[in-house]
Amino acid sequence: MNKCDITEDTIYQCFAAAMQGNNLTSTAKSFVDVEEYENQVMYPEFSRWARKAGYPKIAELFLKVAGEEKLHATWLRKMYENMGIPPRGEDTQRAIDALETIRKNSDTLIEADPKTVIEKALKVAIKVEQREYRDIYPSFRDQAIQAGQHEAAEIYQKVINSEEQHAQWFEAALKELEVAA
Ligand SMILES: [Fe+2]
Ligand SMILES: [Fe+2]
Repeated sequence: MNKCDITEDTIYQCFAAAMQGNNLTSTAKSFVDVEEYENQVMYPEFSRWARKAGYPKIAELFLKVAGEEKLHATWLRKMYENMGIPPRGEDTQRAIDALETIRKNSDTLIEADPKTVIEKALKVAIKVEQREYRDIYPSFRDQAIQAGQHEAAEIYQKVINSEEQHAQWFEAALKELEVAA
């Protein structure tokens, strides 16, 4: 009874990985696609869960981070003025479908065990941000350096620093939640 049967792995399916392309432009399109997905879909949904679970401060944090993901896309878009709406990446579409499946059960799960759902969402958010700042975006930055595109490399580095900060914010929120009664 009252057991939360949503796992971290299930929530992690909502993460869309940006893919490094053969050239900087295709990498940039995948980056913008993923950042805008996080801004428009993933973090707003996590925020909705937190609000429903009775954690308004965490809900605000998810929205704040969502806003910064939009900013990341905007920084890079400045270099690609004609990008328009990038094609929906395969992994992004898969993540959207996973989120949709979770959404069907999330309200019931949150009612049954609000704290556990939010703990898991925060743990996943930490993993997402860590993967981005440790692995994915450093390789985009290095691709830009190798192509002699120093401006793009600087933007990716700025994003890496920001994603690291997101991970730290989520870690602090998780600690606070875990010590709360
Ligand atoms: Fe981001
Ligand atoms: Fe982030």
